[in-house]
Amino acid sequence: MSNIKFYYGEKVPLEMHKVRIVQKLNLVPIERRLEAITEAGNNTFLLKNRDVFLDMLTDSGVNAMSDQQLAAMMVADDSYAGSETFSRLENKITEIFGKKYFLPAHQGRACENILSQAFVTPGSIVPMNYHFTTTKAHIVLNGGTVEEIVIDEGLNIDSAHPFKGNSDIEKLKAVIEKYGSEKIAFLRLEAGTNLIGGQPFSLENMREVSTICRQNGIMVVLDASLLADNLYFIKVREEKCENMSIREITREISDLSDIIYFSARKLGCVRGGVICLDNEEWYQKMREFLPLYEGFLTYGGMSVREMEAMVVGLDETMDENMISQGPLFIEYMADELKKKGVPVVTPAGGLGCHLNAMTFLPHIPQTQYPAGALAAALYIVSGIRGMERGTMSEQRDENGIEPLSDMELLRLAMPRRVFTLSQVKYAVDRIGWLYENRELVDGLRFVEEPKVLRFFFGRLAPVSDWQSKLVAKFKSDFADSL
Ligand SMILES: Cc1ncc(COP(=O)(O)O)c(C=O)c1O
Repeated sequence: MSNIKFYYGEKVPLEMHKVRIVQKLNLVPIERRLEAITEAGNNTFLLKNRDVFLDMLTDSGVNAMSDQQLAAMMVADDSYAGSETFSRLENKITEIFGKKYFLPAHQGRACENILSQAFVTPGSIVPMNYHFTTTKAHIVLNGGTVEEIVIDEGLNIDSAHPFKGNSDIEKLKAVIEKYGSEKIAFLRLEAGTNLIGGQPFSLENMREVSTICRQNGIMVVLDASLLADNLYFIKVREEKCENMSIREITREISDLSDIIYFSARKLGCVRGGVICLDNEEWYQKMREFLPLYEGFLTYGGMSVREMEAMVVGLDETMDENMISQGPLFIEYMADELKKKGVPVVTPAGGLGCHLNAMTFLPHIPQTQYPAGALAAALYIVSGIRGMERGTMSEQRDENGIEPLSDMELLRLAMPRRVFTLSQVKYAVDRIGWLYENRELVDGLRFVEEPKVLRFFFGRLAPVSDWQSKLVAKFKSDFADSL
């Protein structure tokens, strides 16, 4: 995919698949879109899909599955215990990651629950390149504290650094020095670092981190949910790895990790979760939680059909043509937006195209959620559903103080192999229009604010009548166009 050049020099991400099953889409009029976002409390999580045109909320559980995956679902063995499906998945995980033991779970955060219950105790420290929402929530729930060690450049939105998900080795050493390795429950590395714009770490950086951890007796836990993007970036951006196959890179990353877990809603394009490891004692410790929270050992809350599809999905992840589709579409979208002056996270990462709401809407203070306001505004003008990744996604501390997020991003996820290039062009067009009319957009305030993971169910209201003004301007510019 990446090495097919167009004669006239245009940079086009060419799909290496064809579409054989389609789902009808609907674009409701802007008046309905305004009503819908109001009914949803200005929270895109609460929109009904019938009101959504392009669903760019997430890539979680919504990537397109292949014909081979769907076919594999037909041979699933649904025995409660000892299922053949479990053995096939176990063998595939051992083949790809080289790990001996495998625990199934119903999704990524279920793995985080098991890991945190098994290893985090009150006072524990968990260093990580960067936190993810559900990860941090589970660690904090068990009395632990997260220490972020991402390189400073990771938080620089407009950058040329190819590996913004790298850990800062000096910060890691300082955390070990400050707390002592016995207080560190484990070190967590997140592939394709979600909250800072799907940014990868390099294999070289992981080698260094893992060496220090091993010298200090600290367990390395890899969150491989976004590993597919990270593998692709290592292959194309890390010179020393250009001759390594995707399988070889995967295997080395795995060898540098003591425990790997992932959301198979992302890695494997199904719906489920996986923990795998070599250490028998840790395996036994985590296994105890499985029947309590997930299900029997051979399905762990997953449907066996999804497990069969995961066997194929993991294999397909080892194909560079497959894993390049997301990053190349995202790069195309980011480049087109940059041409229009729209502030986006650079370099383009995996997962999705991220708009920098702090620069897009500099007149909105973080306490009025610029990224949330941008999500609501974009939905109104386009029917596109994105996800706020900023202060709304943070959680108040025990004193009720709201931490302001390092970044205010609107994430426009690119579910893999789902959208066509003309749909991406539509998104670029409407975002460009919104950028030209950005002064019309104002902030939001919470009217219902849950204590935990408030961004999922919280309801907000606009701080002024900006949304009706935005609709009026849209109608005057677009006349009868949806
Ligand atoms: C990096 C990362 N870790 C963990 C999770 C949690 O996975 P799940 O949504 O399957 O619970 C996600 C989900 O988006 C993620 O991106």
